[in-house]
Amino acid sequence: DSMKKIRSFDESSGIFKVDAGVILEAADTFLAEKGHIFPLDLGAKGSCFVGGNVATNAGGLRLLRYGSLHGSVLGLEVVLADGTVMDSMHSLRKDNTGYDLKQLFIGSEGSLGIITGVSILCPARPKSVNIAFLGLESYEMVQKCFQTARSDLCEILSAFEFMDHDSQLLAAKSLKTTHPLCQEDETGVDSVPEYPFYVLLETSGSTKEHDDEKLENFLEKVMGDETVVDGTVSQDETQLRTLWTWREGIAEASQQFGGVYKYDVSLPLDSMYSLVEAVQERLKKLNLSSTEDESKPVYEAVGYGHIGDGNLHLNVAVREYNKEVEKALEPFVYEFVSKHHGSISAEHGLGFQKKNYIGYSKSEVEIRMIKDIKHHYDPKGILNPYKYI
Ligand code: LAC
Ligand code: ZN
Repeated sequence: DSMKKIRSFDESSGIFKVDAGVILEAADTFLAEKGHIFPLDLGAKGSCFVGGNVATNAGGLRLLRYGSLHGSVLGLEVVLADGTVMDSMHSLRKDNTGYDLKQLFIGSEGSLGIITGVSILCPARPKSVNIAFLGLESYEMVQKCFQTARSDLCEILSAFEFMDHDSQLLAAKSLKTTHPLCQEDETGVDSVPEYPFYVLLETSGSTKEHDDEKLENFLEKVMGDETVVDGTVSQDETQLRTLWTWREGIAEASQQFGGVYKYDVSLPLDSMYSLVEAVQERLKKLNLSSTEDESKPVYEAVGYGHIGDGNLHLNVAVREYNKEVEKALEPFVYEFVSKHHGSISAEHGLGFQKKNYIGYSKSEVEIRMIKDIKHHYDPKGILNPYKYI
């Protein structure tokens, strides 16, 4: 049970010090009892480690509200390649004394050192949480809805996620429950209403009446001008969890037919969904895509993700991995992203699969500096070899 201990928690500042091997959900459960929240939440919370989250700079579902780990992590304890322990488990929000070394390890994917301890700032746990699950007629309306949410829900907006129609179909097939926007008379496990887009938005705050009133006014506005055409709202803990499964369950649902090609990209909001459409078009042309014909390898290309962070997940669900599909996807996806000045990895990192594509997102100078740092701190290349760079 080494590296699985909670080291300390300071109630007045919210500063939490923890071993890298603590499971994210366990950390959050501990913090819940103290009235605080871990400033990161993601579908894999039941199995991922705090240290791994920091090493990969995981983004998750509430980055919109709590920011990235580059902001909330206050200090780290790291074992370097030569065995030196860098103890910088600081508790300071402000420290302008030289380079901010911990940042090198956040998102380094274990290529510069092994994180053994994390010091992180944990905000107060919201006392009131609402979720609205909405149906929309176009991607333009998704963007408009986001703009209104940002201005009218403002400080209580804590998540703004979007899902396209086919991602909900995939989820329906794997969750085997009734979609939240299905009418009573069309209940059935595989039926999803015909809206091209869905939004899951969450508010969290400290006063229920205040939040409820804000959300009501917001919904009146977006439904009044037909930005949103359908929706349901929930405050009940069990219902909240169920609504989230229609977003969090897509990753797993994408695998149900055999395999999945996954892309996790940052793009400017207005061109974000056009990547999904372009990929669907390419697959259609190749005549590889079919929902009916089992001899076709591709099941569906779906798009969903974190609108609030400009982060799209494009998943191509396949019955089997296939060279022709691969050729249709790559480098096409990376070229599209590069042309739109996006990032080929918004939150999942480079790892082994994406490392050869770093040039689509980083300049030659940047790559040289990354290599210099890697060679300086790990001259023998023993840390997470063959990955990243
Ligand atoms: C998500 C993870 C997979 O957003 O990034 O569902
Ligand atoms: Zn994500």
